Amino acid sequence: MSRSDRSTPGAPHPDDRVAGWQAPDAPDRAIDAPADVPGALGGSRLFEQPQYRAEAARFAAFIAGPGPVAVEVGFDHGRRLLSLAEQAADLRWVGLEVRRARALDLAARVEERGLTNLLAWRADARTVFRRLMPPGRLARVDVLFPTPWWHPGRRARRMLLEPGFVADVRRSLAPEGVLHIATDVGPYFEHVRGLMADWRPADDPPPAPTPSRRERTCARAGIPVHRGTWRP
Ligand SMILES: C[S@@+](CC[C@H](N)C(=O)[O-])C[C@H]1O[C@@H](n2cnc3c(N)ncnc32)[C@H](O)[C@@H]1O
Repeated sequence: MSRSDRSTPGAPHPDDRVAGWQAPDAPDRAIDAPADVPGALGGSRLFEQPQYRAEAARFAAFIAGPGPVAVEVGFDHGRRLLSLAEQAADLRWVGLEVRRARALDLAARVEERGLTNLLAWRADARTVFRRLMPPGRLARVDVLFPTPWWHPGRRARRMLLEPGFVADVRRSLAPEGVLHIATDVGPYFEHVRGLMADWRPADDPPPAPTPSRRERTCARAGIPVHRGTWRP
């Protein structure tokens, strides 16, 4: 396990947009804003709708179960998350992904394999952490290659790693809990370093048995990856 935070050496990034990436000037929501936050899928008010109340209740029951719980945000096709859940029976995992097909696919594979320690949920992590995540509960939160949102307007509205979300994650972590972040967008990582300035560096979790899609792409193409792990 290596100490946070660090970058792997590599060739210059092949995507021209990376060098010009800039964090939005001001986050579009305050750190201690009221419980309602904007987000994909209708924002956090979604959980007040009857059909989502059942999903929120299922999540609450899973989170309240025994033992440590970890979260992967934006699991995409979910192979990494599945491999983590299959490897570690002592840790229970929640996967949050906004793309419906991805979330449903993973939920189907979880059921096929009879895994009881993984809940794959189609939900916007920003709304879940703000509205539903109990304080002091999580052993680990993984955010691998958060969407950089190349369009500045979308970036301002949808960027995941901003002060409000980081404050929500902080609140959700157990005393020894950690936040693990990786990205190949160097300026996004500089922004993350700023957000994590008052956190303490921690050891990276061991690599998952199966890397994420973007981890694999970066490894194949020799694209540098910036990675860090922090505890409050
Ligand atoms: C660039 S992809 C990286 C996927 C994967 N983690 C990897 O390493 O290959 C970002 C993923 O995060 C998801 N995502 C973006 N914003 C999200 C949010 N607010 N809540 C949950 N998932 C989100 C996207 O749908 C996408 O699957």
